[in-house]
Amino acid sequence: MELYEVIEKRRTIRDFEDKPIEMNIIKRIISAGLKAPTNNHLREWEFVIFNDKKERLRILNLEDMSNYDDCEKMLDGFGMTDSDQRGMYHIAMPKQFSMLDNSGCLILPFFKLREPLLKPTSLSSLNEFASIWCCVENILLAAASEGILGVTRIPMSEELEHIKNTLNHPDNYTMPCYIALGYPSSNAKLPIQKTINVDDRLHINQW
Ligand SMILES: Cc1cc2nc3c(=O)[nH]c(=O)nc-3n(C[C@H](O)[C@H](O)[C@H](O)COP(=O)(O)O)c2cc1C
Repeated sequence: MELYEVIEKRRTIRDFEDKPIEMNIIKRIISAGLKAPTNNHLREWEFVIFNDKKERLRILNLEDMSNYDDCEKMLDGFGMTDSDQRGMYHIAMPKQFSMLDNSGCLILPFFKLREPLLKPTSLSSLNEFASIWCCVENILLAAASEGILGVTRIPMSEELEHIKNTLNHPDNYTMPCYIALGYPSSNAKLPIQKTINVDDRLHINQW
Protein backbone atom coordinates (compact mmCIF):
# COMPACT_ATOMS: atom_id res chain seq x y z
CA MET A 1 0.00 0.00 0.00
CA GLU A 2 1.08 3.50 -0.70
CA LEU A 3 1.99 5.47 2.47
CA TYR A 4 -0.84 8.02 2.32
CA GLU A 5 -3.30 5.20 1.70
CA VAL A 6 -1.99 3.38 4.79
CA ILE A 7 -2.37 6.57 6.84
CA GLU A 8 -6.04 6.75 5.76
CA LYS A 9 -6.60 3.03 6.44
CA ARG A 10 -5.17 3.12 9.97
CA ARG A 11 -8.09 3.42 12.30
CA THR A 12 -8.56 2.39 15.90
CA ILE A 13 -10.73 -0.69 16.11
CA ARG A 14 -11.64 -2.74 19.15
CA ASP A 15 -13.47 -5.71 17.57
CA PHE A 16 -11.38 -8.50 16.11
CA GLU A 17 -11.83 -11.69 14.14
CA ASP A 18 -10.87 -14.77 16.14
CA LYS A 19 -7.72 -15.21 14.06
CA PRO A 20 -4.12 -15.10 15.27
CA ILE A 21 -1.45 -13.07 13.47
CA GLU A 22 1.43 -15.13 12.12
CA MET A 23 4.70 -14.60 13.97
CA ASN A 24 6.57 -13.58 10.80
CA ILE A 25 4.02 -10.76 10.25
CA ILE A 26 4.34 -9.67 13.90
CA LYS A 27 8.12 -9.56 13.47
CA ARG A 28 7.79 -7.49 10.28
CA ILE A 29 5.47 -5.02 12.02
CA ILE A 30 7.72 -4.68 15.08
CA SER A 31 10.78 -4.29 12.81
CA ALA A 32 9.01 -1.26 11.32
CA GLY A 33 8.61 0.03 14.89
CA LEU A 34 12.32 -0.42 15.43
CA LYS A 35 13.00 1.96 12.52
CA ALA A 36 11.26 4.88 14.25
CA PRO A 37 13.25 7.97 15.17
CA THR A 38 14.77 7.86 18.65
CA ASN A 39 16.21 10.53 20.94
CA ASN A 40 19.51 8.87 21.84
CA HIS A 41 20.16 6.72 18.77
CA LEU A 42 19.91 3.48 20.76
CA ARG A 43 16.27 2.36 20.35
CA GLU A 44 16.17 0.85 23.82
CA TRP A 45 12.79 -0.80 23.28
CA GLU A 46 11.66 -4.34 24.15
CA PHE A 47 8.41 -6.10 23.27
CA VAL A 48 6.58 -8.82 25.19
CA ILE A 49 4.15 -10.70 22.96
CA PHE A 50 1.08 -12.43 24.37
CA ASN A 51 -0.55 -14.57 21.72
CA ASP A 52 -1.79 -17.29 24.02
CA LYS A 53 -5.13 -16.12 25.41
CA LYS A 54 -4.73 -18.07 28.67
CA GLU A 55 -1.36 -16.44 29.25
CA ARG A 56 -2.94 -13.04 28.59
CA LEU A 57 -5.24 -13.42 31.56
CA ARG A 58 -2.18 -13.42 33.83
CA ILE A 59 -1.50 -9.82 32.96
CA LEU A 60 -4.97 -8.36 32.31
CA ASN A 61 -6.55 -7.37 35.61
CA LEU A 62 -9.17 -5.16 34.01
CA GLU A 63 -12.91 -4.87 33.68
CA ASP A 64 -15.04 -3.40 30.93
CA MET A 65 -17.32 -0.48 31.87
CA SER A 66 -20.48 -1.86 30.34
CA ASN A 67 -23.13 0.34 31.95
CA TYR A 68 -24.20 3.16 29.59
CA ASP A 69 -25.25 5.50 32.44
CA ASP A 70 -21.94 5.03 34.30
CA CYS A 71 -20.14 5.96 31.09
CA GLU A 72 -22.39 9.03 30.60
CA LYS A 73 -21.65 10.15 34.17
CA MET A 74 -17.94 9.80 33.61
CA LEU A 75 -18.03 11.79 30.36
CA ASP A 76 -20.08 14.52 32.07
CA GLY A 77 -17.48 14.52 34.85
CA PHE A 78 -14.78 15.09 32.22
CA GLY A 79 -16.86 18.02 30.89
CA MET A 80 -17.01 16.47 27.42
CA THR A 81 -19.41 18.24 25.08
CA ASP A 82 -18.32 17.12 21.59
CA SER A 83 -20.83 14.50 20.41
CA ASP A 84 -18.31 12.66 18.17
CA GLN A 85 -15.91 12.45 21.12
CA ARG A 86 -18.64 11.14 23.42
CA GLY A 87 -19.61 8.63 20.71
CA MET A 88 -16.04 7.35 20.58
CA TYR A 89 -15.95 6.91 24.38
CA HIS A 90 -19.27 5.04 24.32
CA ILE A 91 -17.75 2.61 21.82
CA ALA A 92 -14.42 2.38 23.67
CA MET A 93 -15.38 2.18 27.36
CA PRO A 94 -17.25 -1.15 27.20
CA LYS A 95 -14.23 -2.78 25.52
CA GLN A 96 -11.16 -1.71 27.50
CA PHE A 97 -10.57 -5.26 28.70
CA SER A 98 -12.25 -7.36 26.00
CA MET A 99 -10.43 -5.55 23.15
CA LEU A 100 -7.10 -6.68 24.65
CA ASP A 101 -8.32 -10.17 25.46
CA ASN A 102 -9.91 -10.73 22.02
CA SER A 103 -7.14 -9.32 19.85
CA GLY A 104 -5.11 -11.48 17.46
CA CYS A 105 -1.88 -10.33 19.07
CA LEU A 106 -1.25 -8.41 22.28
CA ILE A 107 2.03 -6.52 22.41
CA LEU A 108 3.46 -4.92 25.54
CA PRO A 109 6.11 -2.45 24.39
CA PHE A 110 8.71 -1.28 26.92
CA PHE A 111 11.20 1.56 26.86
CA LYS A 112 14.22 2.29 29.03
CA LEU A 113 13.80 5.11 31.52
CA ARG A 114 16.59 7.58 32.23
CA GLU A 115 14.80 9.33 35.09
CA PRO A 116 11.36 8.91 36.70
CA LEU A 117 8.82 9.44 33.93
CA LEU A 118 6.28 11.23 36.11
CA LYS A 119 8.74 13.77 37.51
CA PRO A 120 10.22 15.36 34.39
CA THR A 121 12.66 18.18 34.99
CA SER A 122 12.73 19.45 31.41
CA LEU A 123 11.08 18.74 28.09
CA SER A 124 14.03 16.61 27.06
CA SER A 125 13.54 14.33 30.09
CA LEU A 126 10.50 13.09 28.18
CA ASN A 127 12.49 12.16 25.09
CA GLU A 128 12.40 8.41 25.79
CA PHE A 129 8.63 8.55 26.19
CA ALA A 130 8.25 10.59 23.00
CA SER A 131 10.48 8.16 21.08
CA ILE A 132 8.55 5.02 22.05
CA TRP A 133 5.38 6.67 20.75
CA CYS A 134 7.10 7.20 17.39
CA CYS A 135 7.78 3.45 17.51
CA VAL A 136 4.14 2.71 18.38
CA GLU A 137 2.88 4.77 15.44
CA ASN A 138 5.24 2.96 13.06
CA ILE A 139 3.83 -0.33 14.39
CA LEU A 140 0.24 0.82 13.83
CA LEU A 141 1.01 2.00 10.29
CA ALA A 142 2.94 -1.15 9.38
CA ALA A 143 0.06 -3.24 10.76
CA ALA A 144 -2.46 -1.24 8.69
CA SER A 145 -0.40 -1.93 5.57
CA GLU A 146 -0.90 -5.67 6.33
CA GLY A 147 -4.70 -5.26 6.76
CA ILE A 148 -4.29 -5.45 10.53
CA LEU A 149 -5.77 -2.76 12.79
CA GLY A 150 -5.92 -2.31 16.52
CA VAL A 151 -5.86 -0.06 19.51
CA THR A 152 -3.51 1.34 22.13
CA ARG A 153 -4.60 1.53 25.76
CA ILE A 154 -2.89 3.58 28.43
CA PRO A 155 -2.42 1.46 31.56
CA MET A 156 -3.46 2.78 34.97
CA SER A 157 -0.70 2.73 37.60
CA GLU A 158 -2.16 -0.39 39.27
CA GLU A 159 -2.07 -2.19 35.90
CA LEU A 160 1.61 -1.27 35.53
CA GLU A 161 2.29 -2.59 38.99
CA HIS A 162 0.49 -5.86 38.23
CA ILE A 163 2.44 -6.24 34.97
CA LYS A 164 5.71 -5.56 36.78
CA ASN A 165 4.91 -8.20 39.39
CA THR A 166 3.85 -10.72 36.76
CA LEU A 167 6.61 -10.22 34.19
CA ASN A 168 9.33 -9.22 36.60
CA HIS A 169 10.74 -6.80 34.03
CA PRO A 170 13.72 -4.58 34.92
CA ASP A 171 12.88 -1.59 37.15
CA ASN A 172 14.27 0.87 34.63
CA TYR A 173 11.85 -0.19 31.90
CA THR A 174 8.20 0.82 31.63
CA MET A 175 5.28 0.33 29.31
CA PRO A 176 3.65 3.35 27.64
CA CYS A 177 0.59 1.43 26.41
CA TYR A 178 -0.81 -1.94 25.47
CA ILE A 179 -0.97 -2.54 21.70
CA ALA A 180 -3.80 -4.89 20.68
CA LEU A 181 -3.73 -5.87 17.00
CA GLY A 182 -5.85 -8.11 14.85
CA TYR A 183 -7.89 -8.62 11.73
CA PRO A 184 -10.95 -6.38 12.10
CA SER A 185 -14.23 -8.22 12.54
CA SER A 186 -16.78 -7.50 9.80
CA ASN A 187 -18.96 -5.59 12.31
CA ALA A 188 -16.09 -3.69 13.97
CA LYS A 189 -17.44 -0.39 15.28
CA LEU A 190 -15.77 2.71 13.91
CA PRO A 191 -16.47 5.99 15.69
CA ILE A 192 -16.84 9.08 13.49
CA GLN A 193 -13.27 10.26 12.90
CA LYS A 194 -12.69 13.97 13.33
CA THR A 195 -11.42 15.28 10.03
CA ILE A 196 -9.48 18.49 10.29
CA ASN A 197 -9.05 20.82 7.36
CA VAL A 198 -5.34 21.60 7.25
CA ASP A 199 -6.01 25.24 6.32
CA ASP A 200 -7.86 25.69 9.62
CA ARG A 201 -4.74 24.71 11.58
CA LEU A 202 -2.01 26.39 9.55
CA HIS A 203 -0.46 29.63 10.70
CA ILE A 204 2.03 31.28 8.38
CA ASN A 205 4.73 33.43 9.98
CA GLN A 206 2.55 34.21 13.04
CA TRP A 207 -0.19 32.45 15.10
C1 LIG B 1 -1.91 8.38 23.41
C2 LIG B 1 -3.15 7.60 23.07
C3 LIG B 1 -3.89 7.00 24.08
C4 LIG B 1 -5.02 6.23 23.78
N1 LIG B 1 -5.65 5.58 24.80
C5 LIG B 1 -6.67 4.76 24.51
C6 LIG B 1 -7.26 3.96 25.55
O1 LIG B 1 -6.81 3.96 26.71
N2 LIG B 1 -8.30 3.17 25.21
C7 LIG B 1 -8.82 3.11 23.94
O2 LIG B 1 -9.77 2.36 23.70
N3 LIG B 1 -8.27 3.86 22.93
C8 LIG B 1 -7.22 4.66 23.18
N4 LIG B 1 -6.61 5.38 22.18
C9 LIG B 1 -7.17 5.35 20.81
C10 LIG B 1 -7.95 6.65 20.53
O3 LIG B 1 -9.21 6.57 21.15
C11 LIG B 1 -8.11 6.84 18.99
O4 LIG B 1 -6.83 6.94 18.41
C12 LIG B 1 -8.89 8.12 18.70
O5 LIG B 1 -10.24 7.99 19.11
C13 LIG B 1 -8.88 8.50 17.21
O6 LIG B 1 -9.45 7.46 16.42
P1 LIG B 1 -8.66 6.83 15.20
O7 LIG B 1 -7.38 6.22 15.77
O8 LIG B 1 -9.57 5.78 14.63
O9 LIG B 1 -8.35 7.90 14.24
C14 LIG B 1 -5.46 6.13 22.44
C15 LIG B 1 -4.74 6.75 21.42
C16 LIG B 1 -3.58 7.46 21.72
C17 LIG B 1 -2.79 8.10 20.61
